[in-house]
Amino acid sequence: MKYFKMNNFITGFSKLSKEEKINWIAKEYFSNPKEALSLLKNYWNTDEKIQNLHDEFIENTITNFYLPLGVAPNFLINGKHYTIPMVIEESSVVAAAAKAAKFWSTRGGFKTTVLNTEKIGQVHFMFTGDALKLEKFFLEIKAKCIAATESITKNMQKRGGGILEIELRNKTHLIENYYQLHATFDTKDSMGANFINSCLEQFAKTLKEEVHSFESFSEEEKNIEVVMSILSNYVPNCIVRAEVSCPLEELIEKHINDPKDFAEKFVRAVQIAEIEPFRAVTHNKGIMNGIDAIVIATGNDFRAVEAGVHAYASRNGQYSSLSHAKIENGIFSFWLEVPLALGTVGGLTSLHPLVKFSLEMLENPTAKELMQIVAVAGLAQNFAALRSLTTTGIQEGHMKMHLNNILNQLEATDEERLLIRKHFEKNVVTHSSVVDYIQKLRRII
Ligand code: MEV
Repeated sequence: MKYFKMNNFITGFSKLSKEEKINWIAKEYFSNPKEALSLLKNYWNTDEKIQNLHDEFIENTITNFYLPLGVAPNFLINGKHYTIPMVIEESSVVAAAAKAAKFWSTRGGFKTTVLNTEKIGQVHFMFTGDALKLEKFFLEIKAKCIAATESITKNMQKRGGGILEIELRNKTHLIENYYQLHATFDTKDSMGANFINSCLEQFAKTLKEEVHSFESFSEEEKNIEVVMSILSNYVPNCIVRAEVSCPLEELIEKHINDPKDFAEKFVRAVQIAEIEPFRAVTHNKGIMNGIDAIVIATGNDFRAVEAGVHAYASRNGQYSSLSHAKIENGIFSFWLEVPLALGTVGGLTSLHPLVKFSLEMLENPTAKELMQIVAVAGLAQNFAALRSLTTTGIQEGHMKMHLNNILNQLEATDEERLLIRKHFEKNVVTHSSVVDYIQKLRRII
């Protein structure tokens, strides 16, 4: 295969074979091309079928990028036990989830409710003319818009889902001549992105076609310009609630000597995240540690979830906490409401072997059940973070978990690891304290 090259600029790259691609990259960018090639190949799967599968997920795959898949057991959700799969690189997250799960498993567990499951998509278009005529036109073609999607919606309807409603929205107060077809959908167990986008593109087509036979439109009015048709990742009507609660005295534990003091400080920490955006972002980031990890493990689109969740956190005009807490009549309650558009069928769910594994470990949940499990992972993570922050401080646990990474960086031997772990059971872990200690050991051993 030939390619044309000019100072690292290349045309026809995607048409090269994988071998040609990695050879070009190794030669162009690496002082030691042989080493670069061998690193890439080390991460290829020896099972050709699995490797081919990964090669085809995206364009220009040159190797695989591993992230750990960990599990957090002992989650009691609505009376049922789960072991939750988590894909994440941050060392303390799985341990924190497991700790929070265990804590709440003896205090009634997590309770969840799916409040609604509506997805949204929009056709954005420009219309120059009489808005009242456009409304009349829309009412006339609405049924046609729906009928024209029949081949797309047939299967979804069999599963009980489909198009819920289409509205014409006048946005000309924001942009001159700008209107939308704002549509809502029920996509059942699929996330629904392809389904929604296909329906929207068909709505746009019907809109463009039908405009010509609407007699009261002038020639200018017939000239509708469809700007784009796309689903929205903002799903404020696809909300799940997760909560925990227990009598104050049941909060007692290793780092919680005075449960009332603990609960009050915890509630204050949540209040701070409710009113202070700088804190809210970090607070919600902790929630997303739990949410993203399971969203990725179950083959869902974490960028869509992130974008939607943060938009929801700003819905009242200021970025705020997704979780809330209170003490009422001696009962501590902590809860979270998040928008989660998830799927358990379609997309990667039946393609990626580890996604299939994760879903089976969760007993093949429906999308609604998955929403509940994911929200719980977020709440558990938030509980673990706030418990540490308001008691021991976050660094103790973080650095204990991070110790492994430091030991790997320093290429510590098994013997050194044993001695260092023992030493740091009672001493504060920092990068420099570990370096100092290993240097001391290396002088002695
Ligand atoms: C770190 O990944 C997450 C935390 O910063 C969350 C928080 O501050 O609530 C610990």
